[in-house]
Amino acid sequence: MKIVIGSDHAGYELKEFVKNYLVEKGVEVEDKGAYSLESVDYPDFAKKVSEAVLGENILGILICGTGIGVSIAANRHPGVRAALCQTEFGARMARAHNNANVLCMGARVVGIGLAESIVNAFLSTEFEGGRHARRVDKIER
Ligand code: RB5
Repeated sequence: MKIVIGSDHAGYELKEFVKNYLVEKGVEVEDKGAYSLESVDYPDFAKKVSEAVLGENILGILICGTGIGVSIAANRHPGVRAALCQTEFGARMARAHNNANVLCMGARVVGIGLAESIVNAFLSTEFEGGRHARRVDKIER
């Protein structure tokens, strides 16, 4: 499992925290930026991550101030199912029922402790398939 991560300036610090947290756990992480607090446009980073998650065994993480901008932008990319998660339960359901391949979070909404729990839930939950696969297929079509 490889993680591709990206943020805008508002998500930069939480993105750095999440990246380091995952690297320390031995997870392979590719950082698509932003690389500083300088003001940037979140759709550019949503695009970079969205284009990178279409391979096998790759999940994306996108962070902006609210998580809303990156989730709207990422979901315009075919094949991307981006879920804005603010709870551990939501993160688990986003994988189990929606087969989300991009986790979006708001750095101005969640703290680092909650972000850790959300990331752990997202990365450790498998898609359940079955009736959920039929529904996800309808979205893809
Ligand atoms: C940047 O100020 C902020 O608008 C952005 O990070 C994000 O929250 C947009 O949805």
